[in-house]
This record gives sequence, C-alpha cells and structure tokens, in this order.
Amino acid sequence: MRDVDDWEDDLLQRYPNPGETKKEKDDYRNYVDSDRIDGVREFYRLNHKYQTYDFVCRKEEEFLKFDKRTMSIWEAVDFLNTLVDDSDPDIDLDQLQHLLQTSEAIRADEHPDWFVLTGFLHDMGKVLCLFGEPQWAVVGDTFPVGCQFSDKIVYPEFFDENPYAKDERYNTKLGVYTENCGLDNVKMSWGHDEYLYQIMKDYLPEPALHMIRYHSFYAQHREQAYDHLMDKKDHEMFKWVKKFNPYDLYSKAPTPPDAKALRPYYEDLVAKYLPESLSF
Ligand SMILES: [Fe+2]
Ligand SMILES: [Fe+2]
Repeated sequence: MRDVDDWEDDLLQRYPNPGETKKEKDDYRNYVDSDRIDGVREFYRLNHKYQTYDFVCRKEEEFLKFDKRTMSIWEAVDFLNTLVDDSDPDIDLDQLQHLLQTSEAIRADEHPDWFVLTGFLHDMGKVLCLFGEPQWAVVGDTFPVGCQFSDKIVYPEFFDENPYAKDERYNTKLGVYTENCGLDNVKMSWGHDEYLYQIMKDYLPEPALHMIRYHSFYAQHREQAYDHLMDKKDHEMFKWVKKFNPYDLYSKAPTPPDAKALRPYYEDLVAKYLPESLSF
C-alpha cells in the first residue's frame, strides 16, 4: 500500500456509511483507483500469510517489553504525525486529524469523557510503523490466530498461504482454545490495536480497553464470526466496540478540526487518566 491508511478507505467500501447519499457513495467509488485496490489486496495477502500464532508470540516478546521509547502522549502524537502520506495530499489527513475527528464526533454526542479520550488515543499504536514494522503487522483487520480463520475475514482466500491453515492443531473451529473461553484468552493477529491496549490497560475503564483492543476485529464486531470464542463479558463489552466503530469510520468532517484550539481540552483529559509519560 502507498499509505498506511489505504486499508481504512477499503473498509469504507466494505462497510459504507448507512447515512450517506447515493451520490456520496458514487463519488467515493470514483475515487477508489485500481492501484489502491491492488495495494490493499497485496497488503492482505502478506497479512494473511504471515500472521501466525508463532508470529504473534514473537511480536509480543519483542514489543511488550516496552523498551523502545518513553514518551508523553503529546510526544507520541508528534512522533505519529511524522507518518504522513504525501503521495495524495488532497485526500489523506494526518494521523492527529483522524484522532481528533473521531474524538470530537464522540464528544459532540455527549458521551463520557473516557470515551472521548478513547477516540483520541485509539490509533496511537500505529507508532509501530515508526519502529520499522511492516504495514501488514500494524494495521488491517485483526482476527484470532490459533484456530480456524473465518471466511468472514476480508480476502479469506489468502489464508491458503498461511502454514497454520493446514496444521490440524490450529485449523479446527476452536483450535487451541475452548468454547466461549473469552477473548482475553485468545491471541489476536498482531497490530496497533493489541499494542496500544497493552500500553493503556492500567489506565482506562474496561469498555475503553475493549474498544481499543478490538476496533479492527471486523469479523466479530460486524460479522459475528467468532461468537464461539466470546464469553458473556465480551458480548457485553462488544456493545461498546460497536458503538465506537462508526466514529472511527464515518467521522471525516469537511473542515478539519483545529488542533491548536482543541489542545487545552485534550491536555486536561489526558492528564486526568494517564501518567505523564508512557513506555512504548
Ligand atoms: Fe485503528
Ligand atoms: Fe482509526
């Protein structure tokens, strides 16, 4: 992919905004060029081929030591913002703008402040890109590893290249898991969601943590393909994950948020919940 966010444009095509007019949908289709589609396909081919149970274990070992950098949230935002795509300046917003559009839409609907904060933080795990990780190990739909890959996951045919799809220990419906064992006991494909969850897990309320951890798990929050791994608590928490998703996907406003004017509000909000510096 040319841009780390191209897969999110692809999401909009898979899950169009129900509130959008036909004209807006057509405009969007015109804008999706074939290069972009090829880029997204290749991205998912690599993602589905290489995201294995072992791969996730290795990445956890590497990144959950949190020895890469110590940053305040504001330093992390500045760092993340170096990840701008300049091939398409008319369309792509910088990362901070996506975060602010998401959080401001949540705030406008008068949700609790921790929900607003979640919108503001939810993609910060993308700093993984800046630690040299390939896009397929940072963004894209996430899914459980260690059991059968659902055909509800985007481009399921690409799992044919994943060695675990042929391994009998891992390719049954439950694989290494037990029925309704709860997602906390399930390894998800590695990416920005799990990474940020692990950084935030001591600081935010449970629904916020579920929103961060599973916001790219489309096969569940949109397709309900993994009910057999969810426990009662997950079902309760996924109400929040579902509530969050439209803010992530459909909050692109015509006028970009004024980051400078909004900063004092977010400084207070960050200070209310998070320590001054965090280990990445
Ligand atoms: Fe994300
Ligand atoms: Fe996002």
